[in-house]
Amino acid sequence: MLKMTHLSKVYRTEVVETYALRDFNIDVKEGEFVAVTGPSGSGKTTFLTIAGLLETFTGGEYMLDGVDVSGLNDNARSKIRNEKIGFIFQAFNLIPDLNVFDNVEVPLRYRGMKAAERKQRIMDALERVGLASRLKHYPAELSGGQQQRVAIARALAGSPRLLLADEPTGNLDTQMARGVMELLEDIHREGATIVMVTHDPELAARAQRNVHIIDGQEVDIAEEPRFQAEQAASSHG
Ligand SMILES: Nc1ncnc2c1ncn2[C@@H]1O[C@H](COP(=O)(O)OP(=O)(O)OP(=O)(O)O)[C@@H](O)[C@H]1O
Ligand SMILES: [Mg+2]
Repeated sequence: MLKMTHLSKVYRTEVVETYALRDFNIDVKEGEFVAVTGPSGSGKTTFLTIAGLLETFTGGEYMLDGVDVSGLNDNARSKIRNEKIGFIFQAFNLIPDLNVFDNVEVPLRYRGMKAAERKQRIMDALERVGLASRLKHYPAELSGGQQQRVAIARALAGSPRLLLADEPTGNLDTQMARGVMELLEDIHREGATIVMVTHDPELAARAQRNVHIIDGQEVDIAEEPRFQAEQAASSHG
């Protein structure tokens, strides 16, 4: 469903060129649950923002559901984004001017759903993340972890075909993180394809497949000495 071939992303300023992704290859099949790991600055968020059509890329090819994404204009890109992609991102998160209920409603508006059904789905989703008592709160009136959970409720309510999550448990305590992982597993069982960036080895281990990124490239974990060193360090710490 999501296939990138020899993809590159270069950030250019007047003084430097940064390759955030370089000859990057990935093939995520429909219905897969993939965890993406890698050191800070390795290109994980860059990969997700390109995958979610929030950013363009510099070279290579990206096919989403068999469509060559580089040929799409802004309108076509946002239509695909709204109809089939759900995001749980740190930066691209809640709309500050909308309260909790309205934030969760956003993706449903694109699906031509009746008001009663929308309300039902929103309430169900907020209940599942334990925020049914915060409907009228604005994002600024919530803790970081609560904001994260609203984003998860929004993804749950919208039943996206492709869910992209960037450190979905980053702001949460261990127990809440497990709860979120269970919700993601529910969304997966309901048929969604999930790509989740995480630093948490316990969460990564629960995905069907792990993809490791170093210096903007996917690497084979078994053949990567640096990763083995990292693993050894984290299992002793
Ligand atoms: N807007 C930008 N302008 C210039 N360089 C950027 C920009 N965004 C990202 N980069 C660079 O691209 C590289 C990859 O960044 P990215 O955010 O994808 O890393 P990451 O793997 O998500 O890291 P982390 O685990 O810390 O979130 C970094 O070296 C970063 O400095
Ligand atoms: Mg990141």
